[in-house]
Amino acid sequence: MKFLSIICFSVPLVLGSINTRESHGTVPINSYNYTALGGPLNWYGLDPTANSACAEGSHQSPIDIVTDSIDYTSPGTVNLNITNVPSAEFENLGTTVEVVITNGSLVANGTTYTLAQFHFHTPSEHRINEEYYPMEAHFVFGSEDGQNAVVAFLIELSTNGDTTPLLSSVFSSLSEIATPGTYTETGSLDFTGIVQSFNSYGVYTYNGSLTTPPCSENVLWFISSQPLWVSAKQYRAVKGVLKFNARYTQDSLGQPNLLEVAASELH
Ligand SMILES: *[C@@H]1O[C@H](CO)[C@@H](O)[C@H](O)[C@H]1NC(C)=O
Ligand SMILES: *[C@@H]1O[C@H](CO)[C@@H](O)[C@H](O)[C@H]1NC(C)=O
Ligand SMILES: *[C@@H]1O[C@H](CO)[C@@H](O)[C@H](O)[C@H]1NC(C)=O
Ligand SMILES: *[C@@H]1O[C@H](CO)[C@@H](O)[C@H](O)[C@H]1NC(C)=O
Ligand SMILES: *[C@@H]1O[C@H](CO)[C@@H](O)[C@H](O)[C@H]1NC(C)=O
Ligand SMILES: [Zn+2]
Repeated sequence: MKFLSIICFSVPLVLGSINTRESHGTVPINSYNYTALGGPLNWYGLDPTANSACAEGSHQSPIDIVTDSIDYTSPGTVNLNITNVPSAEFENLGTTVEVVITNGSLVANGTTYTLAQFHFHTPSEHRINEEYYPMEAHFVFGSEDGQNAVVAFLIELSTNGDTTPLLSSVFSSLSEIATPGTYTETGSLDFTGIVQSFNSYGVYTYNGSLTTPPCSENVLWFISSQPLWVSAKQYRAVKGVLKFNARYTQDSLGQPNLLEVAASELH
């Protein structure tokens, strides 16, 4: 107990000397996490009924995207549109940091999906031809009939210190929510650059799942082939808050869940 309290006191003192800005309030944190028995190997065990797809689903995300065999969207069939906003709520959910913003739409193959939020993973969850990236952003959408779609961007380290402007704007408020369970307000967010990029480059698409409990399937993924950029300095700041929040790479689409395979091989 004494040992713990020494740690707890020393951390805020160190942070406080760099950062004097504060969060605006508190939000509930998620009960799962990315460590030991709270982590992805045991998400089913945390709630076998709700999280059955985590261990039994056969179209689970994330996957390794093999660029020679994945589907690309047909040109003109997918369109992203996100309205610039003067500010948005930015939350630390313990498992990720998330911007709550609903003024956006994705039209894909004739269906319109509405934006609910976007959040970050470090390292990336998807891999491209086996290679992982330092970060990944997920923009989560839902349609009127309850189908989910996620627009994803891999985020690569820049060699010249540049960070994609939207990411700079979001992460400039990150130190205010370094503590899980806190939220703050961002400054203005300009989506023009990432929307243009998404609508201009090739987009990988597949039918997978949520990468967090309950791992529900029937989630349409749209992953930009063009990464966003983060500077090494910015990446280190984000990593310091997010720690580690990537689910392990799942089996190929349509193949048995890796947890079922592993369990049967034990017997
Ligand atoms: C992760 O979750 C488990 C199960 O709820 C909990 O026992 C553990 O303390 C958590 N670990 C971290 C690092 O949050
Ligand atoms: C994007 O959405 C806004 C708000 O709904 C709309 O006014 C605008 O015309 C849309 N832009 C495009 C390129 O579709
Ligand atoms: C975002 O959407 C809400 C609800 O539809 C609307 O009231 C608000 O004006 C929109 N904000 C912007 C910046 O378009
Ligand atoms: C697009 O929609 C059409 C008609 O609803 C459907 O037949 C087709 O399978 C869809 N394509 C994809 C890639 O979802
Ligand atoms: C996606 O997969 C689910 C099963 O996981 C299936 O019910 C659904 O029809 C598929 N959607 C598309 C557009 O292929
Ligand atoms: Zn995600």
